[in-house]
Amino acid sequence: MTEQRRVLRFNLAERAAHWVLAVSFLLLFLTGAALVFRSLVHLLGPSGLRITSRLHHVVAYAFTFGPVAVLLLTTPKTTREWLRTIFTWTKEDLAFLASFPKEFFGLKVELPSQGKFNAGEKVNSLLTLFGSVLMVATGWVMLFRDSFPKAVLAWAYPLHDAGALLMGSVILGHVYLALLHPGSRESINGMLRGTVSEKFARDHHAKWYEEISKSA
Ligand code: HEM
Ligand code: HEM
Repeated sequence: MTEQRRVLRFNLAERAAHWVLAVSFLLLFLTGAALVFRSLVHLLGPSGLRITSRLHHVVAYAFTFGPVAVLLLTTPKTTREWLRTIFTWTKEDLAFLASFPKEFFGLKVELPSQGKFNAGEKVNSLLTLFGSVLMVATGWVMLFRDSFPKAVLAWAYPLHDAGALLMGSVILGHVYLALLHPGSRESINGMLRGTVSEKFARDHHAKWYEEISKSA
């Protein structure tokens, strides 16, 4: 059997930045959840709770500085293109979002052709960007609590919790689409090996596929 042709979707730096963000987010989510339910202290024990809190603070450095450093230092051009794309919205994007719930739940639907990131991925990118800024800002305020006015600290806690809930729900849908959804799970190869099948690129990102085919 002949191997399907494959096209490059994410370079090594993009993949490294994604996985530093993803692993650190998941660790922060788990350790953060343990801190919310601190009344269950008897499960972790007082030293378990201290270690969980310390782990949360250490991983926060990777989350805050890791992806930004990798993206800006090693692949500034694709980072600029990603930022430009996610802030550029077209009529096709809105039509895509209107039809996407049907696709998500497995119904047959004709979706408008999309660029490198479809409208759902643009929403995911924007929520990740703004959600991460919120988590980082409120998190560092909470960590250096003595350096901030009481009113700022009083806002930081509920905003940090709300951000964790919002990002956690978005990530649930994101992971489902990447690993389980029959229409889109080929995308995980792009984030692991860097490439996706030519057929997937053509069917899911027709405008992007056209661009890369022209410049090849
Ligand atoms: C983006 C992923 C993150 C998630 C999902 C998350 C989640 C949480 C949650 C649920 C809590 C418990 C709050 C409460 O008790 O009401 C918490 C506490 C805390 N978080 Fe985060 N957090 C994240 C990132 C960060 C970052 C980047 C920092 C920066 C230092 C940070 C610093 C803290 C601090 C200082 C606390 C207070 C509890 C403690 O000191 O142990 N978090 N986080
Ligand atoms: C086990 C967990 C995760 C898996 C399996 C996963 C998988 C993927 C895959 C396959 C893509 C590429 C989709 C495409 O072709 O465009 C992607 C992109 C992306 N991921 Fe994740 N991811 C995970 C966790 C996370 C987390 C925790 C975050 C944010 C905190 C995140 C943020 C993003 C963003 C912003 C993109 C680019 C926009 C998009 O394509 O949706 N991912 N992820």
